[in-house]
Amino acid sequence: MKLAIAGKGGVGKTTLAGVLARLLAKGGYKVITIDADPAMNLSSVLGIDQETASKIIPISENYDLIEERTGARPGSSGSVFSLTPSVHDIAEKYGVLGPDNTRLIIMGTVKSGGSGCMCPANSLLRALLRHILINRKDAVIMDMEAGLEHLGRGTVKGVDAILSVVEPRVQSIETANRISKLARDIGVNSIFTIGNKVKNEEEKNFLYDTLNKINLPIIGVIPYDEAIAKSDMLRVSPIDFAPNSPAIKAIDAIKEILMKYYT
Ligand SMILES: Nc1ncnc2c1ncn2[C@@H]1O[C@H](COP(=O)(O)OP(=O)(O)OP(=O)(O)O)[C@@H](O)[C@H]1O
Ligand SMILES: [Mg+2]
Repeated sequence: MKLAIAGKGGVGKTTLAGVLARLLAKGGYKVITIDADPAMNLSSVLGIDQETASKIIPISENYDLIEERTGARPGSSGSVFSLTPSVHDIAEKYGVLGPDNTRLIIMGTVKSGGSGCMCPANSLLRALLRHILINRKDAVIMDMEAGLEHLGRGTVKGVDAILSVVEPRVQSIETANRISKLARDIGVNSIFTIGNKVKNEEEKNFLYDTLNKINLPIIGVIPYDEAIAKSDMLRVSPIDFAPNSPAIKAIDAIKEILMKYYT
């Protein structure tokens, strides 16, 4: 099961990614989570303590690793670097182990020249993603940006589905529509929409009606849940803070649906 989670800013991508990863891991899966969002806050939703999290070096900033694997140090202009760096051990060596044996890899962003640049850091990131998505058996949950920047043609083959998170708001649905077009353009055909922060029946109906009209299948709805908001303020994982809260139960139901598709 290789899933990429996307959606407009603040809709709940990281919350869904972290909770889903923990639930899958509790169910016996080996889970690799990938933080591909520059905001990098998946660690706290996963339940990795702040001190450990503060020491994680994103792959894109680990110049020694990039140089060791690609043969060139970022910023050294004109140097030749490998497009097929060895990456098979990076998840184990540089991924941080979290609760329930979830593993977190923080990709980081490539600052110079935009995300499309072909530079040593990008070469390593791409090879790593391709390896994790295509060669490894682990369940993979990627926390992305709305732009799907990291999903190039080489990596997208390994993604089973994009989970597109929407709030019952027009802007959020427009972003979901754009994401689904982008996803199809790069060759992902399975796009599942998930409603989040839904406060009442009216909001739920609004989501189902609007999404149906634009042919975006919705596979579940997560209610607005004070316990999630509170866990965020306390910087603890929602699943440790309130394992039986309505939002966690809703995410568990979504997990069951996904497992029917992908196991
Ligand atoms: N179902 C929910 N009920 C209440 N609060 C929620 C719910 N889902 C997410 N939140 C809260 O909404 C905020 C944004 O959530 P989150 O960080 O998961 O969104 P995101 O899409 O990853 O945001 P960003 O685009 O900034 O990365 C957080 O404070 C989170 O605790
Ligand atoms: Mg996020």
